[in-house]
Amino acid sequence: MLDPPATAAPLTVHHFDLDGGRAVVVPVPAPDAIPAVADWPIDPAERAHAAKFGPRRQNTWIAGRMALREACRAVGIEPGPILPDDRRAPTLPASVSASLTHTDRWAVAWAAPADGRTRGIDLEDPTRGGLHLQRMLLTEPEAVDLASRPAARQQAELIRRFALKEAVYKAIDPRYRRYVDFKEVAIWPDPADADAGTARIEWMLAEGEAPPKGMILRWRLWGDAGWLCTAEAAW
Ligand SMILES: CC(C)(COP(=O)(O)OP(=O)(O)OC[C@H]1O[C@@H](n2cnc3c(N)ncnc32)[C@H](O)[C@@H]1OP(=O)(O)O)[C@@H](O)C(=O)NCCC(=O)NCCS
Repeated sequence: MLDPPATAAPLTVHHFDLDGGRAVVVPVPAPDAIPAVADWPIDPAERAHAAKFGPRRQNTWIAGRMALREACRAVGIEPGPILPDDRRAPTLPASVSASLTHTDRWAVAWAAPADGRTRGIDLEDPTRGGLHLQRMLLTEPEAVDLASRPAARQQAELIRRFALKEAVYKAIDPRYRRYVDFKEVAIWPDPADADAGTARIEWMLAEGEAPPKGMILRWRLWGDAGWLCTAEAAW
């Protein structure tokens, strides 16, 4: 697996294998280094869609669209314009299962040929936010588990669960098509103290939907970029 390409130029494409699929990372340009609209290396319809965004969102949009298109191509699928659907998920051909995440520095897309599974990816900086966020993000048993960890690790632990839950959300939203609150799932990373592993998920879906038949969760600390997490739901 590729490390985050720290010295790479913005808007360059880097491929790597990730959790049974292909991934692409594209470094996001700095806010003062955004190319002129006409030079954005994305589909014209994507360019027109993003023209109304502010500069920060334009930067992540361009890198994200590049990453997602290249990840689809890496598994042999050429998408049309990748515009958002009514739930902000990227619209893609039915022949591919893919997901996208971005931070201010990186856009990462993950794709596999369609196999009936839905996929989600998330990248989060473990130093982001603060421990107060646990009130919004964690169930009671997860909060108890967090409190039992060494104080110096709690912030990173909290953000690992956050990233895993966001990856889960992206994988399940195409089915449920509703906001699923952070407390409707509980995540149990395994091993608890490591830089990479898997996780078990517990479902407490408020609207009583059947959970996926299977959910594979994987996570790793990805260089200095943060927790890179994937979710793969089988239905
Ligand atoms: C949608 C959400 C998951 C995005 O995560 P984020 O960390 O804010 O942002 P990321 O950069 O990682 O991901 C953004 C990308 O996710 C994708 N995305 C957005 N909505 C999506 C959806 N409904 N389904 C699948 N993918 C979606 C898009 O590609 C988006 O990038 P784009 O707008 O440039 O196309 C988050 O904002 C959210 O609303 N979460 C809801 C609650 C939740 O996570 N619950 C967890 C319990 S299951």
